[in-house]
Amino acid sequence: MKRFLFFAIAIFIIQKAPCQMNRLSEQAGNVVKETTIDGGVEFKLSNAYARILAYNATTIRIRVSKTAFTDDRSFAIDNLKPTGVLQAIKGAGNDNIYKTDSLMVRVHTHPFRISIYNNNNQLLCADESTLGISWFGNQVSCYKQLNSDEKFIGLGEKTGGINRRGNFYQNWNTDAPAYANNADPLYATIPFFIGTHDRVVYGVFFDNSHKSYFNFGGGADEELFHFGADDGEMNYYVFGGSSVASIIKDYTTLTGRTPMPPLWSLGFQQSRWGYDNQEQLLTIAKTFREKKLPADVIVSDINYMDDYKVFTWSNKYPDVKGMLGQMKQMGFDMVTIIDPGIKVEKGYTVYEDGLTGNHFAKYPGGKPYIGHVWPGRCHFPDFTKISTREWWGNNFKEAYINRGVRGFWNDMNEPAAWGREFPNLIEFGEGKDRQTLYGVKNAYGLLMAKATYEGTRKGLGGQRPFVLTRASYSGVQKYSAQWTGDNVSTDEHMLLGFRLLNSMGVSGIPFTGMDIGGFMGNPTPELFLRWLSLSLYSPLFRNHTAYGYNYREPWLFGEYNTEKIRAILEKRYQLLPHLYSAFYQSSQSGMPINRMLPIDYTYDDYVYNAKYENQFMFGDGLLVCPVTSTQTVADVYLPSKENWYRLSSDKLYAGGSSYFVECPLEDAPVFVKGSSIIPMQSTVQNTKEKGDGILYLHIYKGSQPNTYTYYEDDGETYQYETDSYYRRAIAYNPTANTITLKAKEGNYASKFAKVKLVLHGFESNTAKEYGLNDGEMVMDLGK
Ligand code: NOJ
Repeated sequence: MKRFLFFAIAIFIIQKAPCQMNRLSEQAGNVVKETTIDGGVEFKLSNAYARILAYNATTIRIRVSKTAFTDDRSFAIDNLKPTGVLQAIKGAGNDNIYKTDSLMVRVHTHPFRISIYNNNNQLLCADESTLGISWFGNQVSCYKQLNSDEKFIGLGEKTGGINRRGNFYQNWNTDAPAYANNADPLYATIPFFIGTHDRVVYGVFFDNSHKSYFNFGGGADEELFHFGADDGEMNYYVFGGSSVASIIKDYTTLTGRTPMPPLWSLGFQQSRWGYDNQEQLLTIAKTFREKKLPADVIVSDINYMDDYKVFTWSNKYPDVKGMLGQMKQMGFDMVTIIDPGIKVEKGYTVYEDGLTGNHFAKYPGGKPYIGHVWPGRCHFPDFTKISTREWWGNNFKEAYINRGVRGFWNDMNEPAAWGREFPNLIEFGEGKDRQTLYGVKNAYGLLMAKATYEGTRKGLGGQRPFVLTRASYSGVQKYSAQWTGDNVSTDEHMLLGFRLLNSMGVSGIPFTGMDIGGFMGNPTPELFLRWLSLSLYSPLFRNHTAYGYNYREPWLFGEYNTEKIRAILEKRYQLLPHLYSAFYQSSQSGMPINRMLPIDYTYDDYVYNAKYENQFMFGDGLLVCPVTSTQTVADVYLPSKENWYRLSSDKLYAGGSSYFVECPLEDAPVFVKGSSIIPMQSTVQNTKEKGDGILYLHIYKGSQPNTYTYYEDDGETYQYETDSYYRRAIAYNPTANTITLKAKEGNYASKFAKVKLVLHGFESNTAKEYGLNDGEMVMDLGK
């Protein structure tokens, strides 16, 4: 027996020995040489190379690589040239000091460690002294010091609480149907977070599209956190602006902002997987109009295609142009879905052209990769190539744009093959740009959205396309809105959805939404009502259901509920001037529409409390508190020292306190901050209707002066990019009790002829009406 055991162990060791590698980590090492370069400084380290570059006074980039720097690329950032100034200052001992106008970077040379401070000498973030940057094989990590009171927000579409501290996250874009409340990863990779401690804030964007990791103290050690990726450079930006808003502004200066969306895309969107013929779509559109339920969009899911072949129509849609014409007359637009999988089928033009044009991702050796999706065996476009993006984009003209479609929904772009993993060795790009799925997967959705946006923008000849995507990487906001994928019809999922939208917002993506009522499941009428009444405060307002579940058009919940739904839809349309102005703000600064409370109230611990973390601001002034469908009373937190008004009753609440408030189904808890200005309009049935020509300015009495930027344009074209817009600052003066419409800016004529002041909290609440002229208008509010 002993001899047998001896032999067995010996054979085991002999078999194991050759393939066992005791790999240890490799450290970046010490600074060996320092050279001044454009925008910053380069270091030769004992085991690596590093660069510190300034992009502006509050944006510093850090690149560390095991090999010398040859090229520089990013899926997220169009212009990588550093435009800031980093000045070397005399350091002391092992510390080199560099400065921008707002930040100080201290480089400890033995070993190489970086700490960044603001102008008041307050530490923002620092490498952990014993670990810093290291590699394990190709996997690269950066360890940072974790401060005792530190909190983290951001990372885009991530489940869990809004404070990411104590948790571990991965980025690997994944098709995640019916994801659990704590599932990770989901569909998107936004490797950008904001940290706050000791009453300072800073942001970090780790621009690496490989599978990446963020561990915010989720390890055992409470004194450090780290982030890293399976391959690629340690390449990150630190934003040192003094507020969350300025960090978002700097982040979106680099990765881009959302242009003004088509106004129609902000109306109600009716969608369902399973609508499968022209008559059905027209009947739905007509029913909205007959029942006076405001709406703008009918969405066509995969069933419109011939055998799920993209850029084709099934014969159940014999006259698409005619159908779209009728829709247009009723004030409807149409959004069609598009997937990246292209059916392998001889004679199918898109497939044949794709092959001839060399547009598909390949196995090593050149054979196009095949994966299974809706149409069966499919090839997948190589969106990393400009030529493929152009080819893809050009296909929209004949199939959709010429027939009247202006909205394009990009699905399954993780890319997905029904939950199965694509092999990582699939190749993309050519020549020096050749790379595997490993570095491309997380950016695939972004690149598809880019190709779709650029192609349809060109094809539409001056009109704005609406693009919606499921998968994304940082920078997607330049091209597309994003929804939260295949959610579930439960209260928990609805609340999770608001946290997802808020997190996507703080991470640079303002145009977001979720499937109202839940994609999978049959919501009770109560859940549907609650979900709809809260979602009217989200940028994308779309009712969508999976195949196989109950139909969910608004009139199917009974007459009683239809009336309530009508009131919710009407409120959404009344609020469009406010929403559109919030989009303008976003296009200028990156400020999201749905704003988690830490954006404005960063140092108020209550806003991170699990009881209040679902709350958010909807543009300036409106505070929305998501509650479940079964709750009749809610615990809400009203931050700041200013008073708040309940939107539905004008009841006054002092800020800086929590309250139990009633929340019946028809009255979700929404509050307006004192001193706010909320522009609204009369009820319209769709965004192309003019309404009664009156701009209703709701003014809420408060103690602080406040200014609101009101914005309008034609809602359809890009002429606003030159000077065809209507913008005016509206100032509330609580001392003089006046509201001033500053003179109009821009060359567009408002659709409103009059302005009506609707006063809240003032002695007299009689609405006063004025003719709207272009010069400065000062209006008295009384006491
Ligand atoms: C998956 C998407 O997430 C869902 O919204 C869509 O309805 C189905 N694909 C079918 O296209």
